[in-house]
Amino acid sequence: MLEYYEKRRSEYEAIYNKPERQGCLAQLEQKLCSLVAGKHVLEVACGTGYWTRRMATFTASLYASDASENLAVAARESCEDVDVQAGVVDAFSIPRSPEFNCLVAGFFFSHVLVQERSRFLAGVSAALCPSSRIVLFDNRFVPGSSTPISRKAESGDTYQNRSLVDGSSFEVLKNFPSTDQVASLLGELCRHVSTYENEYFWLVSGETLR
Ligand SMILES: C[S@@+](CC[C@H](N)C(=O)[O-])C[C@H]1O[C@@H](n2cnc3c(N)ncnc32)[C@H](O)[C@@H]1O
Repeated sequence: MLEYYEKRRSEYEAIYNKPERQGCLAQLEQKLCSLVAGKHVLEVACGTGYWTRRMATFTASLYASDASENLAVAARESCEDVDVQAGVVDAFSIPRSPEFNCLVAGFFFSHVLVQERSRFLAGVSAALCPSSRIVLFDNRFVPGSSTPISRKAESGDTYQNRSLVDGSSFEVLKNFPSTDQVASLLGELCRHVSTYENEYFWLVSGETLR
């Protein structure tokens, strides 16, 4: 997946231009920015920084991270007038981070294997102080707008075939859990779990218990 997203860097944000998604995207942005306002945020899997730029004027501080150093640097460089730090963090191995009271992961949960979901969430929760906010958001599957599912594994994981402008193609893990499924998993580690969804996107947030 890392190779795919590194290669896709220059064309990645075109996904945010789909005309039919603009209204829902604006609503998602509003919801996200209200949840991170005044928070010290660790963003994991920041990619090119699309959401980093949007959150940055609302947060008290923002550290954008990705497993790819190239993408973390791209995210940092895309934030021209705002104070954003950036670096490499593996979302499955987040160091203890008491300086943050909020963690955001946008469009990453869909790339977590079904059997890895609990491990990922437990790692996120363990990295944060008690009562920190976790915000996850991602795509809902919308026929005609979403890339079709090309394969479903016995594990329940689903995959898409994706092509880049240079003609290369990749099979990419892309799961579409229901908002309730994500809320239920987050509820094992968080209180005040709240959900939001519109036609194209879901967002689930909660406050860590431990
Ligand atoms: C779908 S993109 C999301 C980018 C950005 N959050 C957004 O919504 O525009 C998924 C990102 O996850 C990153 N990634 C993949 N595996 C990762 C891991 N184990 N830890 C952190 N980031 C990872 C990829 O490099 C890529 O930037």
